[in-house]
This record gives sequence, structure tokens and C-alpha cells, in this order.
Amino acid sequence: MNDYLTIAMPKGRIFEEAAELLRQAGYKLPPEFEDSRKLIIDVEEEKFRFILAKPMDVPTYVEHGVADLGIAGKDTMLEEERDVYELLDLQISECYLAVAGLPNTKMNDVAPKVATKYPNVAAAYFREQGEQVEIIKLNGSIELAPIIGLSDRIVDIVSTGRTLVENGLVEYERIVDITSRLIVNPVSYRIQEERISELVERLAGVIQGAVSVE
Ligand code: PRP
Repeated sequence: MNDYLTIAMPKGRIFEEAAELLRQAGYKLPPEFEDSRKLIIDVEEEKFRFILAKPMDVPTYVEHGVADLGIAGKDTMLEEERDVYELLDLQISECYLAVAGLPNTKMNDVAPKVATKYPNVAAAYFREQGEQVEIIKLNGSIELAPIIGLSDRIVDIVSTGRTLVENGLVEYERIVDITSRLIVNPVSYRIQEERISELVERLAGVIQGAVSVE
């Protein structure tokens, strides 16, 4: 398997956009690629091995070197702070992290609570604002927390904004814009620089093309 490049892909909504980008860059991925339930997919023609991981875990696989490369949201990079290099902003899966809550409500004066999937990002944000909050870590459906009285605010991803609207929540502050990034293990980058640089160039070409026709 030594001549294969291993790429950790985020399962879920980023996956299809990332696969499409690779196809546009001229890489031949099998048609059933997106529909498979396999967690490891070898594409012999391109000498790529894809591993399909939870988005938040992609930087972990890359840091440990079991994946040479990965596609990771900037949100996971900020939260995980892994020892990897960011090679390219893929400009896909655009969204942002925001503070949200029920409309017209102030945070509790005493021990306000913030629910989030991003405890590190949220803690750093409120620290910078000089506000002391208790962070409650959840793994999904974060919007439930203020509705059901678990927290005063949430810190979560906003993409189309539909989840907030449909659950009667409003955005209070926008924290940071997010897109997906191509990341690399530093050792892999040194050893396989030629192949990885070619991948970066091909992807960058597609991204620049997309930007210039907008
Ligand atoms: C994400 C995020 C929001 C939603 C935002 O959740 O946590 O809940 O998408 O998207 P929207 O602005 O387009 O409505 P995801 O679907 O990944 O599931 P999760 O609740 O399990 O985190």
C-alpha cells in the first residue's frame, strides 16, 4: 500500500462536495463512490485510499499519520488544534459559527450556560468577550438546548439558517467564517511532496476557475 496516498474524508454533507471537487480536478472516482457504506475505499487507478471518518475526527487521523491528507472544516481545525499543515482553502461547504438563542432574551447574570459541539472555540470566544460562561458539550441537535432550558445560548454552525428559523431561534453574534481545508501530515508532506503538490495544484486550478467565473 506504500504507493497509495491515504486521504481522510469527512462523512456527511461535506463529502459529496469534496468528491465533486476531486472529479473536477480530473481524478477518476468510481460512480458508486458517494453511495458506498464502506469506510475504506481504494481507487486503484489513482492510487488513492480514502478513509471515511466523522468530520471532527479527520484532523486526528492526519495528525497521527494514518492518513496522509484530509479534508476538514475550519471549524474542526479551530476546535481540535491538531499538529497538521493546512495546504489549501477548498472554498466548499461555506458556513459560519455563531452565537444563537431564543429571541429577546439576555444571558443569565449568574452562571450563564452555553451549549455547543465546539467547547474550545466557544470558551475562547466568551473569554475574549470578558464573559464568564459555563460550557455544556453536546454532540448534535444543539438548537434543542435553549428551547428546552438547558442553556441560555448556543454556539453552532449556521449554513442556510433554516435550523435556527424553524426552531424559533435567532443569531446574536457571528464568530468566524468556515470553509473546508485540505490538510496534510507534516511527515507525509516531506516524503510525498511531489504527489501532494500535484494534487494541490490541480485542486487550486479548479477553485480559481470557479472563482473567476462567478
Ligand atoms: C448542522 C449545525 C446546525 C445545522 C445548520 O447540524 O449543527 O444544526 O447544521 O444548518 P442550516 O443553517 O442550513 O440549517 P448537522 O445537520 O450537521 O447535525 P447535528 O445537529 O447532528 O450537528
